[in-house]
Amino acid sequence: MKLYRAKDYKEMSRKAADIISSLVILKPDCVLGLATGSTPIGTYEELVRRYQNGVLDFSQVCSANLDEYKGLTRDNEQSYYYFMYNNLFKHVNIKLKNTNIPNGMEPDSLEECLRYEKVIDCLNGVDLQLLGLGHNGHIGFNEPAEAFEKITHCVDLTASTIEANKRFFEKEEDVPRQAYTMGIGTIMKAKKILLIVSGEDKADILQKSLCGPVTPHVPASILQLHNDVTIVADEAALSRMK
Ligand code: F6R
Repeated sequence: MKLYRAKDYKEMSRKAADIISSLVILKPDCVLGLATGSTPIGTYEELVRRYQNGVLDFSQVCSANLDEYKGLTRDNEQSYYYFMYNNLFKHVNIKLKNTNIPNGMEPDSLEECLRYEKVIDCLNGVDLQLLGLGHNGHIGFNEPAEAFEKITHCVDLTASTIEANKRFFEKEEDVPRQAYTMGIGTIMKAKKILLIVSGEDKADILQKSLCGPVTPHVPASILQLHNDVTIVADEAALSRMK
């Protein structure tokens, strides 16, 4: 594992964008695994800035997102498609046909999960998977559980995740109860993993994920077993690390 200590959120975002940029420059047809949430927003802003300055070209890049709420249309402001479109895709020259996100409107969970695994296989896998870290150690929507889920699956969101996400919805009842997510096995197949973490509220779970036992009760702890993981975290998030 490589660990970068960033001063703050801004520096974390710049460093993460450096790592993604170097891949896009060295491998213009790379496959980026992307995440949503508040942590990667600064990274996406930085990538957009570099594209606007002529440093980056996304015309051959493909992407595969980690997850999507089940039951939300793409144009729902809380869907992850909407997030990706507005925070990254519409600002750069990535071809929308090369972007992939689970289809939240597919009611047949099994069919959608198998389709999404096939999409990733057809891309020859993900070159670099960007991850944020949930307060309970979740990655994607892989919540603490008795076993690591291997492939893309449909999850029932935990009370703590519904609670954390309700700030984005008008009413708690509007927060979807299920989501499609890449499995832990799907994530672990990525050639490189980039975990970005910011803020003191993530310090405990980051310490457990990196230094605690590898257990499905802390899904991110599995990253200790991946052979090419880079963590970019700010000082606040690293404050519990010795
Ligand atoms: C989002 C995702 C989630 C988030 C995690 C952290 O696609 O997969 O696992 O990365 O919930 O969210 P933030 O960054 O909002 O703290």
